[in-house]
Amino acid sequence: MVDNTNSVEATNRVAVVTGAGSGIGLSVARQLAALHHPVALLDRSGAAAQKAAEELNEQGATARAFEVDVVDRPGVDAALEKVRAELGAVKIMVTSAGIEATASFTDIDLADWKRIIDVNLTGTFNSVQSAVPDMIEAGWGRIITISSSSAQSGAPDRAHYVASKGGVIALTKALAYELSPKGITANTIPPSIIDTPMARAAEESGEMLINFEALASMTPVRRTGTPHDVAAATAFLCSDDAGFITGQIIGVNGGWYL
Ligand SMILES: NC(=O)c1ccc[n+]([C@@H]2O[C@H](COP(=O)([O-])OP(=O)(O)OC[C@H]3O[C@@H](n4cnc5c(N)ncnc54)[C@H](O)[C@@H]3O)[C@@H](O)[C@H]2O)c1
Repeated sequence: MVDNTNSVEATNRVAVVTGAGSGIGLSVARQLAALHHPVALLDRSGAAAQKAAEELNEQGATARAFEVDVVDRPGVDAALEKVRAELGAVKIMVTSAGIEATASFTDIDLADWKRIIDVNLTGTFNSVQSAVPDMIEAGWGRIITISSSSAQSGAPDRAHYVASKGGVIALTKALAYELSPKGITANTIPPSIIDTPMARAAEESGEMLINFEALASMTPVRRTGTPHDVAAATAFLCSDDAGFITGQIIGVNGGWYL
């Protein structure tokens, strides 16, 4: 079986993870599978999602892969219909699909702005709205969105990304107010720098302005984050034990943005 079974209770609730082909989403899918949740891995890279699902199934988990662009609402709805048919009603939605871009504010053109908002914010809306009817029906649900600490602090040369993630935080808080009376909690995790392919690509291209080593030395816990750091917090928020936690911004950042 996959690693990282720990103190979080094991249950059997169908979970959908977007962006599950890589980085944070992949680690979340592994963690939820290790806790015996059937997992649907959605990613625009069907091959990456398929590889991850096969790995999980080989380890005894129940996993399905779906090639989906979260911007494509009919595509999201169709994938979730298949999830219902193959695994059952969706009880957990984790939205990790996202893209980033770097440009000074005056250089951001409208197409880039719209693309970032579409994937990061509208993609989150699409994924959550498509899943929520199942949770309302069940009177139980967990929504965890992956936002970004940059939306709390601000960040240079990425106003579109920061704005999209600020939208994700605000959307999550609105969902918590509206859905918590129905047994559905909604929380967001705004990570600082996490060692994923996305962050490594930004480091290599110079977009990050600082490298991992320097970031680690400046972080109170003296390391950068791992996808598992985010996955472990996500799994707790998915548990019954977290039923009184909703509308919260749960920093997973090593104390970087205290
Ligand atoms: N890595 C970090 O330092 C960091 C920090 C803060 C926030 N985040 C956020 O965490 C999330 C995951 O990032 P990551 O670092 O794991 O990146 P990643 O690039 O490793 O993984 C992102 C995954 O999302 C998928 N994806 C992208 N656009 C998609 C779309 N339109 N539809 C479906 N799938 C799509 C990609 O194919 C990829 O598999 C993102 O939302 C990112 O903004 C990351």
